[in-house]
Amino acid sequence: MHTPLILLNGEVKDAILIAGIESLRKGASAADVAEQVARDVEDDIDEHSVGFSGLPNILGEVELDAAFMEGESLSAGAVAAVKGFRHPISIARQVMERLPHVLLAGEGAERFADEIGAERGDLLTDSAREIWRKRIADCGLTINDIERAANRQSSIVNRQLIEIATRVLAYREGSDTMNVMVRDARGHLVVAVTTSGIAWKYPGRVGDSPVVGAGLYADDRYGAAACMGLGEITMRQGSSLRAVMLMQMGWTMDEAGRAVLRDMLPICRDATRHWTPAGDGPFPRSAWVRLLMLDRHGNAGGYCTHDGSTYKVQTVDESRPRTLVCEWVREDE
Ligand code: GLY
Repeated sequence: MHTPLILLNGEVKDAILIAGIESLRKGASAADVAEQVARDVEDDIDEHSVGFSGLPNILGEVELDAAFMEGESLSAGAVAAVKGFRHPISIARQVMERLPHVLLAGEGAERFADEIGAERGDLLTDSAREIWRKRIADCGLTINDIERAANRQSSIVNRQLIEIATRVLAYREGSDTMNVMVRDARGHLVVAVTTSGIAWKYPGRVGDSPVVGAGLYADDRYGAAACMGLGEITMRQGSSLRAVMLMQMGWTMDEAGRAVLRDMLPICRDATRHWTPAGDGPFPRSAWVRLLMLDRHGNAGGYCTHDGSTYKVQTVDESRPRTLVCEWVREDE
């Protein structure tokens, strides 16, 4: 008998985690609980980096990425750059269960979502639209500038969408991708990742969240890992698979997590060339990553390229979630 538990982002409302734990207590599978918890976060109007109320791309459209992976069979399903659907995590799980594919993107993913009867929805809330409008204004731009560039009406090079997106992204918000990691009573590990990606992204940009091996990985025999932060970094490293591979090689979770983060730091430094205004320091919020991990015994850990990131853990034996601070892995370690 294994102690069932849930590990996820520190920002998630306790009620969502506690509801998931209640389902585990009743004997639900890790897969069903991971999907349930991720759906609840997707519905949370206060969560601006996931699903409904997510921050949009540079054109003001909410584009979603999600993935689902089971550590028992190494089965996985994912969707990328999906618009207009309320629960991308459920579409990702259905890709895994119904198709001989792992990843569907854009229009194909939306066609599939309609075929399986996934719930449609208008995801851009008034508050998310207002944050978008304000950020554009902060950069000395108007919605009209964006529309002209999007419709290719602008002949002025510095009003192309490439230039506009790059300028606005330099001042972007964080990307608080949702990582949900669940272990059930049979010891099976499931990871669900869902996100609206980085705010103000160029249309069609896909991050690490739907990329198996980068944004998530699960293997019952060794453990699981999932990432939050700038996907352009973890996609260059294969961070989640790398973390699980190190545990397969006999490293402890702590050794593996620290090693992955240390190896990531040069990529973070390189990424800052593209992502930060000059003088913003070596690892500003725009170029950071956090790795959450579970080992096969159910130990949970969090590792981060900056200070103060938190995660929550609750087992079925606990009445409340515990909030823990990620290990800050620095270059000089
Ligand atoms: N980690 C989420 C993203 O980069 O889109």
